[in-house]
Amino acid sequence: MQTKTVKVTQDIKKDEYIYEEAGRILREGGLVAFPTETVYGLGGNGLDPDASRKIYAAKGRPSDNPLILHIADKEMLYDIAENVSDKAEKLIDTFWPGPLTMVFKKADKVPSTTTGGLDSVAVRMPSHPVAVAMIRAAGVPIAAPSANVSGRPSPTLAKHVVEDMDGRIEMILDGGNIAIGIESTIVDMTSAPPVILRPGYITKTMLEEVAGEVSLDPTLLVKPTEDLRPRAPGMKYRHYAPKAELTLYEGSIDKVASVIWKQALEKMAENRRVAVIATKESKVVYDKLVSEAESAGKIQPNDNKIDFILLGSRQDEESIARNLYAVLRECDEKAVDYIYSETFSLDNFGQAIMNRLRKAAGYNIINLND
Ligand code: TXA
Ligand code: MG
Repeated sequence: MQTKTVKVTQDIKKDEYIYEEAGRILREGGLVAFPTETVYGLGGNGLDPDASRKIYAAKGRPSDNPLILHIADKEMLYDIAENVSDKAEKLIDTFWPGPLTMVFKKADKVPSTTTGGLDSVAVRMPSHPVAVAMIRAAGVPIAAPSANVSGRPSPTLAKHVVEDMDGRIEMILDGGNIAIGIESTIVDMTSAPPVILRPGYITKTMLEEVAGEVSLDPTLLVKPTEDLRPRAPGMKYRHYAPKAELTLYEGSIDKVASVIWKQALEKMAENRRVAVIATKESKVVYDKLVSEAESAGKIQPNDNKIDFILLGSRQDEESIARNLYAVLRECDEKAVDYIYSETFSLDNFGQAIMNRLRKAAGYNIINLND
């Protein structure tokens, strides 16, 4: 299949003919990848079981892993979901359109192929103008997982979508950079109190301010076991994973940087390629360690087997989230054998960042706190 990649601007009117084409492809059962404020999505008609089958096939995703339905207005919600509670209405008024997905009892018209056989349905109203225009043009709810091959980091740039989906889908709408960079918060509204199934930009505190008590699926930050299984089917898979072995180090920046540096040097001596994920703050420490090693003759200035890849600033959590998946993909491109990274706070938005990073590392975490 020939995939058509089209650049779109924020000027929806000017690009109207592109949305007409995307809408037609979707109504006819084809697939279109599109930007949202969180990550790029891989869209198909959410009411067409064949479109969902194509999505699972394009991603190589197990079909028991349900898809989120994306809508452009509230009318669409009442068409696909039942028992929308007052609490849910309050959350909708506050956070939609935006990076919040809510799980409801599904209406009969939603095919069970879309919901992975569950009798509930996850719904989200994205705020990205391109996503909104595309859903409106299609005129149906759009089932959309992240537009990556199953197991790879979610795409935050159109080029990531091209890497994973070229030749597998009809069209890619290239809307440039993504604002948030990690997937939406998912809250199960079918239980009391509502339960966070996946942390995201909308935090527990933000939800509780609007809707009262909200609980957290206890598996979100630890390795799932037979007894402790995540309630969102998709959260049980090893996800967001780079190809190299990723190890996380917890502790003070100075301690973490010196241990990672020592470890990286050992691997370099064994002729292995190493990437170190650094922040503006830790980079200062690494730079010092590198120049000390150079003056001691331990490494040569043009030894380049250790790549320092800048994630963002610890002072600006949003920069960390925005760059995380692109950095993991960059490590894949550089074909490194080992990746070492510092860790981040578990508070607020940091919880979503660490949920993704810990999964990417397969819970391979070394604690250097005394
Ligand atoms: O930000 C996002 O949510 C992105 C963009 C494209 O909107 N989408 C996304 O979709 O992350 P996906 O398919 O990669 O992740 C959906 C997650 C999976 O973990 C899935 O198991 C869970 O949502 N999920 C979907 N429907 C569910 C349901 N009815 N009950 C529980 N979990 C559900
Ligand atoms: Mg995904």
